Amino acid sequence: MSAPASPEPLRVAVFASGRGSNLQALHQAILCGALPAQLVGVFSDKAGSGALAYAETQRIAHSHLDPKSFATREDFDAALMQNVAAVCPELIVCAGFMRIISETGIAKAPCPMINIHPSLLPKYPGLHTHARVLAAGDAEHGASVHRVEPLLDGGRILTQAKIAVLPDDTPEQLAERVLAIEYPLLIATVRAIAEGRIRLNEGTDTRVSWLNHRLELE
Ligand code: GRF
Repeated sequence: MSAPASPEPLRVAVFASGRGSNLQALHQAILCGALPAQLVGVFSDKAGSGALAYAETQRIAHSHLDPKSFATREDFDAALMQNVAAVCPELIVCAGFMRIISETGIAKAPCPMINIHPSLLPKYPGLHTHARVLAAGDAEHGASVHRVEPLLDGGRILTQAKIAVLPDDTPEQLAERVLAIEYPLLIATVRAIAEGRIRLNEGTDTRVSWLNHRLELE
């Protein structure tokens, strides 16, 4: 009797604007067999982004759209969703995608979309999270992966990882330590989706179909 066929790797598209280190972490996990997924496309709003450069060197399909070429945010988002739909993704990962996606854009997404954010949401949506954590005197900080919904960093939280804030931390030091836990968090989250332990497509009652995980990472 032949062994059962292993399921096809999850088709993942990445939206990124910046250096692309989370993209690289996902890709390296795939290459070393730790993540049953394939990167089917990288999409950026920044022509010179590290994410696009990495995709180019790794021969991952990639494309750039310049927001200035579109009259409205909705027009840009519609073109972006049309481009990403062409690679038939099953999951879109926003990894440092520094644009707000409009409600109509989100509605046009061809599959579920998740985002990684450098704070323990619901605390500190938006920018400058590390400095805000220090200003507030918080004892802990971390990263969250959440579903993209029409709220800034406000979609349903899927997974989180946390670190301690140290007495002499600067925003830069904190950013570096949070980034180091973002990689395993994002990989673990995408793996849980690929393996069906986090289910994003179960009808309309999100209250029962979304599982909430908290990862404790050193
Ligand atoms: C990460 O801190 C991510 O959480 C935030 O933007 C940063 C992107 O870093 N949304 P990189 O481009 O993946 O290196």
